[in-house]
Amino acid sequence: MTAQSAGRHPRAPTLIGPGPGARAAETPALVVDGLSLAVDGVTLLSDVSLTVSRGEMVGLVGESGSGKTLTGLSILGLVPHGARLTGSIRVAGVDMTTAAPAVLRQMRGGQVGMIFQEPRSSLNPALPVGRQIADVVRAHLDMSRGQARAAALSLLGQVGLPSPRSCFAAYPHELSGGMCQRVMIAMALACGPSLLIADEPTTALDVTVQAQIITLLRSIADERDLSVLLITHNLAVVTQVCDRVVTMYCGQVVNADTTARVLSAPSHPYTWALLESGRVKLAGADGDSSPAELAGQPASPVHPPQGCRFHPRCPFAEPRCAAAVPEITPVNGGQTRCVRHGELLLGAGQP
Ligand SMILES: Nc1ncnc2c1ncn2[C@@H]1O[C@H](COP(=O)(O)OP(=O)(O)OP(=O)(O)O)[C@@H](O)[C@H]1O
Ligand code: SF4
Ligand SMILES: [Mg+2]
Repeated sequence: MTAQSAGRHPRAPTLIGPGPGARAAETPALVVDGLSLAVDGVTLLSDVSLTVSRGEMVGLVGESGSGKTLTGLSILGLVPHGARLTGSIRVAGVDMTTAAPAVLRQMRGGQVGMIFQEPRSSLNPALPVGRQIADVVRAHLDMSRGQARAAALSLLGQVGLPSPRSCFAAYPHELSGGMCQRVMIAMALACGPSLLIADEPTTALDVTVQAQIITLLRSIADERDLSVLLITHNLAVVTQVCDRVVTMYCGQVVNADTTARVLSAPSHPYTWALLESGRVKLAGADGDSSPAELAGQPASPVHPPQGCRFHPRCPFAEPRCAAAVPEITPVNGGQTRCVRHGELLLGAGQP
């Protein structure tokens, strides 16, 4: 498949799977390989690699500042002004780092839908939400105003909004946070993308609505055979719906594994620590299901620790951990960036 054919393939905004032209079975939906990003001389992402297969839902987790959003934005070519990006990013086989501006425009919203971190600030407050969805449809697909309006109404129904007609005419401030998030999902799906990047889609929503949005994303992904990169600091959310988990710390991918293995025997101490902190909070009596903070402060990419960046906070650290940056190495079908991975047996409640 060429870049142009991938970018121009129009697909109807329905819950039926994407068209065959964009889905060469052997091509992963997303391959990020050796991505590094520097802004003003500070390396914010270092050698980030991850893959999302066709129809797979992958969770990208890590604490605040670990580089999740920058990774998501880099995939779309939306890097900060003056940033220096190296490595390759392929979406459905198209290299986003070398694609012509016209191809990139078609890929954004056409092949890749993005749900940004703050739904309300991503919507135009001065336009009815239905009109905003219809505009996205018309920007990518050859449709009349009437057809785009019908498509937008259909999408609003598909994301579970109770009264699509009244929602279509509503301004963002007239909708609840959960409804705005559903509108954002409808907009991201408007052109039938093959890949959806959802950046913290449940932040600022109450626990019940969070669960509804996550369930909605999973069911839409299953119905459309859509590939999803779900970005969140909440590992508990990821383990509920994702097939695989990729963990970032201080601008690096430190671990990638199946959700089943992360839950039974995580292969990196940071993933294990995230899991444990979530468990402590979930068991708490205050009814709050958000993860607890880990002990210690996340490392800053401005002055990253020597060697393993997690070593100042790692309960398993040894002097050799600070000697050199651990390579990311294959382990049981996954990958881990830990010099002690062969020695540690991590699981619930340990050590
Ligand atoms: N435009 C920018 N210019 C300079 N530094 C930036 C810029 N955007 C992000 N950073 C820095 O890059 C690092 C990673 O930021 P990023 O937003 O990707 O983190 P995150 O994992 O998404 O965190 P959060 O969970 O808080 O959303 C942080 O140290 C942040 O301060
Ligand atoms: S390399 Fe050492 S400090 Fe880093 S995660 Fe592994 S055990 Fe902990
Ligand atoms: Mg973020």
